[in-house]
Amino acid sequence: MHQVVLIPGDGIGPEITRSVIAVFEAANIRINWIPAVAGMAGVETAGDPLPENTLELIRNYKVALKGPLTTPVGGGYRSVNVTLRKTFHLYCNIRPAFSIPAIQTPFPGVDMVLFRENTQGLYIGQEKWLDEDQTIAESKAIVSREASIKIIRAAFDFARSEGRKKVTLVHKANILKLTTGLFLSVGKEIAADYPDIQFEDLIVDNMAMQMVIRPQRFDVIVTTNLFGDILSDLASGLVGGLGVTGSANIGTGSAIFEAVHGSAPDIAGQGKANPTAFLFSACMMLDYLKEQEKASLIRKAVLKSLENKDLCTADAGGKGTTETFTAEVIRQLRPTV
Ligand code: NAI
Ligand code: MG
Repeated sequence: MHQVVLIPGDGIGPEITRSVIAVFEAANIRINWIPAVAGMAGVETAGDPLPENTLELIRNYKVALKGPLTTPVGGGYRSVNVTLRKTFHLYCNIRPAFSIPAIQTPFPGVDMVLFRENTQGLYIGQEKWLDEDQTIAESKAIVSREASIKIIRAAFDFARSEGRKKVTLVHKANILKLTTGLFLSVGKEIAADYPDIQFEDLIVDNMAMQMVIRPQRFDVIVTTNLFGDILSDLASGLVGGLGVTGSANIGTGSAIFEAVHGSAPDIAGQGKANPTAFLFSACMMLDYLKEQEKASLIRKAVLKSLENKDLCTADAGGKGTTETFTAEVIRQLRPTV
């Protein structure tokens, strides 16, 4: 029996969480969900967006499935997501984006996996005002050799183990010569250890264009924190939007799985949320828990269900709701488990 901390999260979080629980139950996956709160739900129930009890549970059980958390812009809150990634040293953020036959996009045949450094760069939260009138702001970025080695090796090891052909490192070393320059030079060193994997580097602005012109040419991508955040949303957009891309935050010994998307306040509570992204994140968790067979069954059922436009959600070109789609995934699973 697996023990997994479950944080439903804010906005559409509880809706897509219900979907995952129901699908896992239908797939006969033996999981003991340990409920925990964070984000606005944490503020409301425990007066803290990241209650100590939640941290303690993740420390104990080491694996969590987390819905999206609303992070107010400005104000006194630090992002809970960023804090979680830092606290548990979840240095590796993996974001796959692959074309789904049932979802029409101008970009068929995409199959890329983005590795984003998850603890450094401009995300360290070291910002300050440089004058009393608050007209000039400063933000610090940190890139270390050690952290760069870890994420770049993770990308190459993944490429090798998955039989992938190429790693593209994305940087801005022409301008940010020290920070992303260091990331690039570490990448070149590490690439030498993987002669079986093709290596290329691209400057981030060119990368953004190339991803739109010919996304099929990318395989594994590795980059720093902010570039990875932006390019992974772009990658989601290529294959059908934020409703269909999962993600994993992995460290040494612990891992938190979540969708790429946020709490989507614009559609929360309306049955419009596509649970596919969260289901795919949960499948990445199953892979991590060595339940690859179950993960594969669920992925197949989800892909099949996306073909039924009467039942899937509007973002996937359908006329259905979170619930009708979830019911269809369960129906697709039934004969197989
Ligand atoms: P968002 O990802 O919540 O929404 C962007 C757009 O995509 C919206 O139009 C939304 O309706 C749509 N969308 C997102 N997920 C969808 C789904 N499953 N099905 C159908 N449509 C979906 O980004 P936004 O609006 O910028 O952020 C809202 C809040 O979420 C903010 O407080 C932000 O800080 C937080 N956030 C949290 C994340 C996390 O917990 N990992 C990640 C990104 C944002
Ligand atoms: Mg993001």
